[in-house]
Amino acid sequence: MMTPSPSTVRLAACVPLLAVIAGSAMAQEPGASGDLDARVRAFLEKSRYQWHDMNVPESDGRRLYELVLEHGFTRALEVGTSTGHSGIWIAWALSKTGGKLTTIEIDEGRYRQALAHFEEAGLSGYIDARLADAHELVPKLDGPYDFVFQDADKDWYARYFELLYPKLASTACYVAHNVSGRGRRRGNPGFVAALDARPDLETVFVSGRSGGMSVSCRTAGN
Ligand SMILES: C[S@@+](CC[C@H](N)C(=O)[O-])C[C@H]1O[C@@H](n2cnc3c(N)ncnc32)[C@H](O)[C@@H]1O
Repeated sequence: MMTPSPSTVRLAACVPLLAVIAGSAMAQEPGASGDLDARVRAFLEKSRYQWHDMNVPESDGRRLYELVLEHGFTRALEVGTSTGHSGIWIAWALSKTGGKLTTIEIDEGRYRQALAHFEEAGLSGYIDARLADAHELVPKLDGPYDFVFQDADKDWYARYFELLYPKLASTACYVAHNVSGRGRRRGNPGFVAALDARPDLETVFVSGRSGGMSVSCRTAGN
């Protein structure tokens, strides 16, 4: 059993967020209508079994999509593009909120594949894909960001968070992949401790096929 901590104690304040997450299984199919929705859906359907580059599973991609839409986020950053699966879900939601995703990848082969995937899905216009070492680029980014998805080198999670926390908008969610509440004891305790040290963020841990995600949100009034 997980030891309660400041962030879990504040779960009550996260009820709307929890409802979104818990309800994701029964959430309506993303998108309303239109050519772009049809194109993205067709691409995701076609490539459903072709994400083999450490990509998020579809269920996690869907959660990212729902979080962006639920809060109406528009300024998104992803650290760790790989071949673009999570980026497509985030950018699809941003295509509806009028936003844009900046995403960073260090591996040129994966970066190029991601570009091709973004193009094929019809989402290139919503994505600024950078081929770069995030260790160097993240400190130079201006922000502010209202949505961050962290999914690159795990030993840098706490460092990325400390670099990006000052660049978060007043209403924002910071999501990290492959993090669970168990990270307090093993996995990524440094990162979870860094989250706990920020009382303005309400953190919930979402379980999932690929080890879960932490979702830390600052909402108006916090
Ligand atoms: C788990 S994968 C990302 C999966 C992606 N979010 C998706 O779901 O499609 C992690 C990626 O981070 C990249 N990466 C690792 N260290 C990095 C760094 N310092 N800067 C930028 N990208 C990095 C890796 O090359 C890898 O492609």
